[in-house]
Amino acid sequence: MVRETRLDPASFVLPLFVRSGAGLRQPIGSMPGCFQTSVDELLIDARMAADAGVGGVMLFGIPDHKDAIGSGAWDDAGPVQEAIRMLVRELPDLVVMTDVCLCEYTDHGHCGVIKGETVDNDATLELLAREAVSHARAGAHVVAPSDMMDGRVGVIRAALDAEGFHETSILSYSAKYASAFYGPFREAAESAPQFGDRRAYQMDPANAEEALREVQLDIEEGADMIMVKPAGPYLDIVARVKAATGYPLAAYQVSGEFAMIQAAAERGWIDGERAMMESLLGIRRAGADVIITYFATEAARVLRRGR
Ligand code: PBG
Repeated sequence: MVRETRLDPASFVLPLFVRSGAGLRQPIGSMPGCFQTSVDELLIDARMAADAGVGGVMLFGIPDHKDAIGSGAWDDAGPVQEAIRMLVRELPDLVVMTDVCLCEYTDHGHCGVIKGETVDNDATLELLAREAVSHARAGAHVVAPSDMMDGRVGVIRAALDAEGFHETSILSYSAKYASAFYGPFREAAESAPQFGDRRAYQMDPANAEEALREVQLDIEEGADMIMVKPAGPYLDIVARVKAATGYPLAAYQVSGEFAMIQAAAERGWIDGERAMMESLLGIRRAGADVIITYFATEAARVLRRGR
């Protein structure tokens, strides 16, 4: 009765990995219970999530062809765009979010175009805007840029508005740290950088003040929601960002956080269900409104069942 914090499945978002084809369901080794699927199979997972009360999904695409500029990202016939159209049609109550980034689509695996040895921030902005507009055209409710290029929220907002997509919201991955906890995701999305790392554009795990500046810039540029990522090791950032801004805030419990709990539970070293619920409760208690988690459907079912 006097419990201070409660979890609500409506605030969970389930990430899904989609590729072209039919009847495809390929397990992701480092993320037990997660799959790369074709669009038809994705509908099954999205429907299970919606039936459990999960509020939304976040789509990641794995294209057939990668190139230097990631042109698959704005292909209106790409698997993400196809999945958006189907979800909006089949599951109208589900919020459809898309990850906007080039790393799944570039052959070098970086989040932007390369000039010399580094990512060219400004040349990347226009490509991200094309990707976001393509997702909006397919019907996405929320586009979520995860690339961490400077200035992308403003450029994406302007591009969406210019095409008439005033209603499409932007969830900005504002404080995204250069984290070891993304390891399993890079297998899932086939997006590991082929050279170097992402430390030039993602944040130093040691910095908190910088997160507040990044968040402020994104709000000024027109973000509707902001995000802290990863979640578990950065709960102080979640709490500070919420206190400083009062803005709608998402936290992303990333692939490595998920994999650690799954791996320890598989070995019988921890009680997986309890650890799952405790980790989510901690993220909520810190101040996140929305939790993006690979546990979304399972945790929603636990909540439905009651404890
Ligand atoms: C794309 C992106 C990444 C994640 C979400 N969007 C990977 C990265 O930046 O390397 C990570 C998600 C996860 O680990 O679950 N830039």
